[in-house]
Amino acid sequence: MNNKRTQFLLLFLVAVFTFGRVSAQPLKEIVNKAFQNAEQQSLLMAKKYENQPGSLPKSFENGKDTFSDSRWWCSGFFPGSLWYLYENNKNEQLLRYAKLYTDRVEREKYTTDNHDVGFMLYCSFGNGLRITGEERYKEVLLTGAKSLATRFDPNVGLIRSWDHNREVWQYPVIIDNLMNLELLLWAANYSKDSSFKIMALSHADKTMKHHFRPDYSSYHVVSYDLKSGIPHKKQTHQGAGDESAWSRGQSWGLYGYTYLYRETKDKRYLEQAKRIANYLINHPQMPKNFIPYWDYNAPQIPNAPRDASAACVMASALIELSDFVEPELKKKYMQVVDVQIRTLSSDEYTAKLGENGDFILKHSTGAYPFKSEIDAPLSYADYYYLEALTRLKKRL
Ligand code: GLY
Repeated sequence: MNNKRTQFLLLFLVAVFTFGRVSAQPLKEIVNKAFQNAEQQSLLMAKKYENQPGSLPKSFENGKDTFSDSRWWCSGFFPGSLWYLYENNKNEQLLRYAKLYTDRVEREKYTTDNHDVGFMLYCSFGNGLRITGEERYKEVLLTGAKSLATRFDPNVGLIRSWDHNREVWQYPVIIDNLMNLELLLWAANYSKDSSFKIMALSHADKTMKHHFRPDYSSYHVVSYDLKSGIPHKKQTHQGAGDESAWSRGQSWGLYGYTYLYRETKDKRYLEQAKRIANYLINHPQMPKNFIPYWDYNAPQIPNAPRDASAACVMASALIELSDFVEPELKKKYMQVVDVQIRTLSSDEYTAKLGENGDFILKHSTGAYPFKSEIDAPLSYADYYYLEALTRLKKRL
């Protein structure tokens, strides 16, 4: 009897050892559970600000909720998160909240004093239009694209990101600005006015030429000489140093060239996205769980804070990029995504219901050099996490 028991135990251990990897929880289950949790948490958030007109969640710092009006660059992310949740689970409550919070951002269609109008409107109204086909949203997006286009200087060939610090930067363009071009590409398709596309692609091409280093890491801020249209300064704003690789900036670049390839089928954009992916995935300072430190050159590594938002943007981009590459590379990208999504969806990164200021994810970094939003939740980490879950679910 004892022998039989020992034999059984040995067999059991061999089976666990052999099939242990296979028996890991299926990703599909993890994604479904993550959606359920995210929905409950986001509904708490939606209820919290429902009767606070114009307010949009930002973060949760030092035990306090932070929120903004629509002027903050992040205003479109919470409405966008609600759209992804509604796309996953079509219920009236989510739809009502998605519409309500989306409308709070509408006035940004007239924004001409910064480049963030793409983030603000495409994540909110863009998703709303994609999911519901709501006619009214088209006008908002087109007006927003026209506002954004006012910031394009044909002599420089790019959209100006910021208007401040004119004494330092003649014409600052930040890597994040790649994310705003999707709105222009939408406007070109919708209006049949090719000038939106010409601007977007000029911006993409000049960014590819001037923002990237030989190893395919990118500078955060490149400022152009107004007369010659060539860079006069290459610096950082939110990174560890001018020559460092600020993590979220690297993810913006990856995401940008991935969708630029999707929209144009221009192989140069695909190659650029693959090179950035290669740089990130093989970076010696990339942690094993693929949740980057806030900067790949942060002096405090391995004790530097992580930036979950950089991981979410990267995961979402890699899922899309994996559709465009050869099978071996696809496998590699999806292995990284698998680790990222499992990590983000674990207790280590996912907040308990009602905690974390009702944000879904913990451990992002907004602007380390300004001591702002360090190891905190961020509305855009949640947004790109939900986008990654949505993209993943469609492919599982
Ligand atoms: N677009 C600003 C940031 O990524 O922090």
